[in-house]
Amino acid sequence: MMKKDTYIFGIETSCDETAAAIVKNGTEIVSNVVSSQIESHKRFGGVVPEIASRHHVEQIISVLNKTLEQAGLTFSDMDAIAVTKGPGLVGALLIGVNAAKAIAFAHNLPLIGVHHIAGHIYANRLVKEMTFPLLSLVVSGGHTELVYMKEHGSFEVIGETRDDAAGEAYDKVARTLHLPYPGGPHIDRLAAEGQDTYGLPRVRLEEGSYDFSFSGLKSAVINTVHNAEQRGEVIIPENLAASFQASVVEVLTEKTVRAAKEYNVKQVLLSGGVAANKGLRTSLETVFSELKEVQLVIPPLLLCTDNAAMIAAAGTILFEQGKRDGMDMNGDPGLDIETF
Ligand code: KG4
Ligand code: ZN
Repeated sequence: MMKKDTYIFGIETSCDETAAAIVKNGTEIVSNVVSSQIESHKRFGGVVPEIASRHHVEQIISVLNKTLEQAGLTFSDMDAIAVTKGPGLVGALLIGVNAAKAIAFAHNLPLIGVHHIAGHIYANRLVKEMTFPLLSLVVSGGHTELVYMKEHGSFEVIGETRDDAAGEAYDKVARTLHLPYPGGPHIDRLAAEGQDTYGLPRVRLEEGSYDFSFSGLKSAVINTVHNAEQRGEVIIPENLAASFQASVVEVLTEKTVRAAKEYNVKQVLLSGGVAANKGLRTSLETVFSELKEVQLVIPPLLLCTDNAAMIAAAGTILFEQGKRDGMDMNGDPGLDIETF
């Protein structure tokens, strides 16, 4: 007998994107709607939590409706509702969690809470089937992590940032150079036009560590700019951007390759908003093209930044594993990926 198709409805509201999506059998996007608030946060130079929550409230119903319309399906066609339950901004998470609970209750559907980073990793399954063991480098505005997976639904964090996330460092350096928010794409563009001339530090931490640290690098950039201002010298933004990017990309690439070899993985999956970075993509593509036994997967940009298709994809695996949440589920800003 043919196996019945599984349709999971995903909801994501952990930061500044109000998103919903329907994914079929964990691998196929049926519909995917993202409403971004970037314009509202731009003038503040970063995400303002209270503004984010208000936007989610205003947007959520129309995003849910558009997602069903695009698919030509109704909630009664769904097998479960998956929602990001953490980590993220608590006020923002609560909007998605409560919407998911209401739908699950009204349509008598199973409710599945998903870890946001598990979602980012599973974005890759919408592009290529996962082969285990694998390693995922998750680099976004809020996270920088190396996650080892020996099988579906099993996550071991082998390295993470001890201070700023990579994207956060990009955004702060961009602000120092008077570039608009979010600054990552602007630094990336400038870096391509400049040279690594400023001799910025490579922060590798202790021998063998897979952890990261970007705040020292960020401070080095800020100090470089301030010192130049005090001496009346001019900064060459292209070269400073290129120097900063070279340091970030070198350390990310080095640790990812070392972990891929040590853990003997079959795949390396890149995810998170910083996966859009051209320097990082090129660097990883170059090293992994020489490491034939490891397959590198980089999803298209719209699946790297926050979306709900990735939440539905991760939710499908949890659904198949029989994991369910109750109506007492809450948004959890500090949710742990290894135990959620
Ligand atoms: O995953 P994402 O959309 O949101 C979070 O969950 O944080 O990531 C957003 C981050 C921002 O910090 C943004 O500056 C960064 O990704 N970003 C980039 C690039 N495009 C976006 N960073 C470096 N280079 C890029 N091309
Ligand atoms: Zn994210």
